[in-house]
Amino acid sequence: MKKIFIALAAALTLPAFAQQKKTVSTEKQKMDTFITNLMSKMTVDEKIGQLNLPSSGDITTGQASSSDISKKIKAGQVGGLFNIKGVDKIKAVQQVAVENSRLKIPLLFGMDVIHGYHTVFPIPLGISATWDMDAIKKSARIGAIEASASGINWTFSPMVDISRDPRWGRISEGSGEDPYLGSQIAKAMVTGYQGKLQANNEILACVKHYALYGAGEAGRDYNTVDMSRVRMYNEYLPPYKAAIDAGSASIMASFNEVEGIPATASKWLMTDVLRKEWGFKGFVVTDYTGIPEMIEHGMGDLQNVSALALNAGVDMDMVGDGFLTTLKKSLAEKKVTVEQINRACRLILEAKYKLGLFTDPYKFCDPTRAAKEVFTPENRQVAREIAAESFVLLKNSNNTLPLKKSGTIGLVGPLADNTANMYGTWSVAALLDQSVTVLQGLKNALGNNAKILTARGANFLADSVMEHRYVNVHNPTYKRDSRTEAEMIKEALEVAKKSDVVVAVMGEGSEFSGESSSVTNIEIPETQKNLLKELAKTGKPVVLVLFTGRPLALKWENENLPAILNVWFPGSEAGNSIADVLFGDVNPSGKLTATFPQNVGQVPLYYSHKNTGRPEHGKFTKFRSNYLDVTNDPLYPFGYGLSYTNFTFGDIKLSSNTLSKGKSITATVKLTNNGKYDGKEVVQLYTRDLVGSITRPVKELKGFQKVSLIAGESKDVTFKITEEDLKFYNSDLKFVAEPGDFKLFIGPNSRDVKEVNFKLVK
Ligand code: BGC
Repeated sequence: MKKIFIALAAALTLPAFAQQKKTVSTEKQKMDTFITNLMSKMTVDEKIGQLNLPSSGDITTGQASSSDISKKIKAGQVGGLFNIKGVDKIKAVQQVAVENSRLKIPLLFGMDVIHGYHTVFPIPLGISATWDMDAIKKSARIGAIEASASGINWTFSPMVDISRDPRWGRISEGSGEDPYLGSQIAKAMVTGYQGKLQANNEILACVKHYALYGAGEAGRDYNTVDMSRVRMYNEYLPPYKAAIDAGSASIMASFNEVEGIPATASKWLMTDVLRKEWGFKGFVVTDYTGIPEMIEHGMGDLQNVSALALNAGVDMDMVGDGFLTTLKKSLAEKKVTVEQINRACRLILEAKYKLGLFTDPYKFCDPTRAAKEVFTPENRQVAREIAAESFVLLKNSNNTLPLKKSGTIGLVGPLADNTANMYGTWSVAALLDQSVTVLQGLKNALGNNAKILTARGANFLADSVMEHRYVNVHNPTYKRDSRTEAEMIKEALEVAKKSDVVVAVMGEGSEFSGESSSVTNIEIPETQKNLLKELAKTGKPVVLVLFTGRPLALKWENENLPAILNVWFPGSEAGNSIADVLFGDVNPSGKLTATFPQNVGQVPLYYSHKNTGRPEHGKFTKFRSNYLDVTNDPLYPFGYGLSYTNFTFGDIKLSSNTLSKGKSITATVKLTNNGKYDGKEVVQLYTRDLVGSITRPVKELKGFQKVSLIAGESKDVTFKITEEDLKFYNSDLKFVAEPGDFKLFIGPNSRDVKEVNFKLVK
């Protein structure tokens, strides 16, 4: 009977499938014919022109600047532009391309829409702490809607670089340390931006920075990376691949070198892995001046490095002017081939075709959209909810939180009433004066029910020159208080004395993290810490509302303060979402996606490490792999985050402790909310492969579920495990699961887990 049913189902679905395949292939044929026809009319110069991506000049990073853009557009020397926004401006530039260039080829318009456009969501490291793929996808969707309403059709996002080094400023732009979680997020973001790439609010994604950019030596930006391929394949490449599998239309090469070759010139990365192994069909763009920077790397002159990039498989040159100015010469000298130029040109034209720009070059230039679709109350409400979900409650002794909406609250710190620094890095379209500050958010929540007393208490940093470097380089976003440290502390202590509770809003400013913002000290700056120490001495409960773009070393704070709420950079609705959580209207449920170490000397510290032959046994032992001064433990492990309620985990029940190839088993735990508040728990599943042909991590995340439970409720949470979940890249880079013994762990974070054993059999 079952067989008949399957045959029947196949009979019914096959023609539909064939039909669908046929439609896809006729669509593809149509595109191919169109582009072949167009390319047959193009000169070599015009083809090379398509590979050129200058910046409009609004925002400058890197070393080069471009000029005389419109002359170049008319001459067919520009394939796209970035850092230009607004329908009027973009339409005017598109008009130059479509009306004044010989072949009327429309331009791509790119931008770093990283965590929202005018409506700004939490920084990526923050939003990853939601562990909520629907929310993350929605944030990307809204980012795409708002950006496309301003004329943009291509975002340089998602940034999926795995990083285990909080010294690196760009750890803030990614999803943390884990390849499995990072892959889920990569997929959510790509699908959020691109949808079906049909509507005028669906834009091209660009996964970046390929590859391994987050593993630079010493956490210094742009620095050398060197690691084994086994490690790359198992730990660093999966999120890029996940983004490609999800259909990312483009990918950006990274600045760093890999195996001694700058990624931009790596044929192995750009062709062998990306196109041959992963089947990538889109185009590769360099990072900002990635081509000329190879001169500094020591790879030759501009002509040479440009030829290397094209040979490697790079298609578009961001700002470098290398393709534009040297490829024709290289062609004459046979350093590149016309096929390579054709390949790159075709891929860029295909992206334009898929966007629908050949049918309507002004598809993203509807002047009526921005007023209706950008920074709307609805979008801001979503930003508020997502931000509240991203906060991680790091400590909460004596139920200090949630706060009552009564009495007197002392609000202190350089971030307590600071609009511009609510956003975090890469908020290029943020309305700097229109975020909700913490003070405003508290006022909105409290009305007349409680009194708020305020004092700045501290600047970001004591040294004004240093402070300028940390906060005011891109935009002057912080007006320094000219009083002395002692005067400012004195004022804050007076506020504390009159208050029932002190809320200290401090940590990092927006530009403390992000590009070119690496640090060697990951503690809260001294002047702010001095204030905290004085506040703690008053005996008043001090709640630290921590702004940060990276894991910080918070040993003193953890030991001396009753409550710490890490809010990352929440975005447009910062103050409202912080008030939602501080007063318990929203119960925090965020979980760390990057380990918080005890101190910077432990870095890189991550949960999925290897065991070594002499693992630490929980305390210092001579001749074991540990430090003299601190244990190997993190301060807060990966996956960690508290709630106002209390969740308990029952023992793990396996449907069988033997998993056969091609079959599945299930692991179930009973999760109970036995606290007083409704809440959400992220139930995390990890495995450990006990014996392998190569050494295996002590734990690897393999699944998670975010579960809502009302107070008193219990639920069985079930995960399915198949052989596929146990696969890894072996020393031949084959993706295999090896039969043998495994451990399976389930818990609220990577440390506090229950465990069982099972076997994978042939
Ligand atoms: C960054 C990229 C960014 C590009 C364009 C570079 O400096 O590394 O992430 O997309 O600039 O703004």
